[in-house]
Amino acid sequence: MPRSEDLFRESSALFPGGVNSPVRRYDPYPKFMTSSSGSKLVDSDGKEYVDYCLGFGPMILGHGHPELRKALQRQVEAGVIFGTPSELEIKLARMISASVPSIRKMRFTNSGTEATMHAVRLARAFTRRNIILKFEGGYHGAHDYALIKAGSGALSFGAPSSPGIPEQVTSTVLVGRYNDTQSLRAIFHEHGNEIAAAIVEPVMGNAGFILPDREFLKELRQLTLENGSLLIFDEVITGYRFKYGAYQDIAGIRPDLTTMGKIIGGGLPIGLFGGDSEILDMISPMGQVYEAGTFSANPLTMAAGIATLSVLENSNYAGLSRALNTLVEGLSEILAKGDGDFAINSLVSAFQIFFGTPRVESYEDAMKASSKRYLKVFRGMLSRGVYLAPGQYETNFLSFSHSDEDIGRTLDAFRETIHDTR
Ligand SMILES: Cc1ncc(COP(=O)(O)O)c(C=O)c1O
Repeated sequence: MPRSEDLFRESSALFPGGVNSPVRRYDPYPKFMTSSSGSKLVDSDGKEYVDYCLGFGPMILGHGHPELRKALQRQVEAGVIFGTPSELEIKLARMISASVPSIRKMRFTNSGTEATMHAVRLARAFTRRNIILKFEGGYHGAHDYALIKAGSGALSFGAPSSPGIPEQVTSTVLVGRYNDTQSLRAIFHEHGNEIAAAIVEPVMGNAGFILPDREFLKELRQLTLENGSLLIFDEVITGYRFKYGAYQDIAGIRPDLTTMGKIIGGGLPIGLFGGDSEILDMISPMGQVYEAGTFSANPLTMAAGIATLSVLENSNYAGLSRALNTLVEGLSEILAKGDGDFAINSLVSAFQIFFGTPRVESYEDAMKASSKRYLKVFRGMLSRGVYLAPGQYETNFLSFSHSDEDIGRTLDAFRETIHDTR
């Protein structure tokens, strides 16, 4: 019996579904990984995979970058938690503020979930309003205010709106349609003066990967300004993904608050929410809005973040984008020889494949894609040593460590898989 199957039996007795985050689970059992290096993961049976999941996003440099390892080793010696401020947090914050100008002040948290939870509370306190506008399929973490018509695992596992969230909470969250400017205007027309904040993934990464209609984001900025609502860009996935900085810079939009996570922690647990001092100074102990965390800005994470951003600052995103284009063109060529519709959405270092539909520009389009076919292909690729994101409503990532050979190997595996799963 494969070691992963054996381990899965053990883990199923200990963890719900055998896992510590639902998206890690797939049938018949998830592979248990034991090591990683560059673009590769190695499972407990010693099998190697080209990894396009990359820890669900943080490892844009690939696994175990030498600079990251050095920084972590140094910090382990110096101390992993002080329970005091440290110089490291100033350094990382300065790097972020310099590359994302809308973030003048910030708080580090331990996850993207915490970041959006606090950003929402802060926006409510700042505007003295209760209503939050989010978008169908947008995932902002696993807290009550975000788990309403949410994406990612919430979509795959049939609980886009989780039981256990009181109706009093649900009734404070409006759900709009991403990339639908018309319906956005209607929502603001009806509720504009009650909306504390709109929270949006500027590029959707949790209903598959869906690019924004620039007009939609511009209109969202305009309507929030006109109505005295805050705009929160959830850049947990998009931060440092497409350039050294945030997607807001590419879109030419300045949100009031930004949340980040994943890449800025170099693979260690992190989140961040930030914006202008006027808003951030409402946070305790300066202001009345409470936010705290034993592990927030812990030295190990800060060191990992600094090392990662230092490398990224001098990394060639244009080269990464070219590598992704080669991969996407190869995948498209293989699919074009088949008999069905497909769509591949991609940008610089992120992509997703949709089967059975010719384009995916909205949440509804993503729902039309065959998630069953995706999972079949996922399993076919897995058996051939390629680890794609294990769900249709996730995003695949390319790292700076992926080589031409990795891409060639991926395309060979894809050709065989598509042939076999037809
Ligand atoms: C856009 C977005 N926001 C928030 C989160 C939550 O982050 P975390 O899993 O670190 O809590 C995620 C996680 O995937 C995300 O993709």
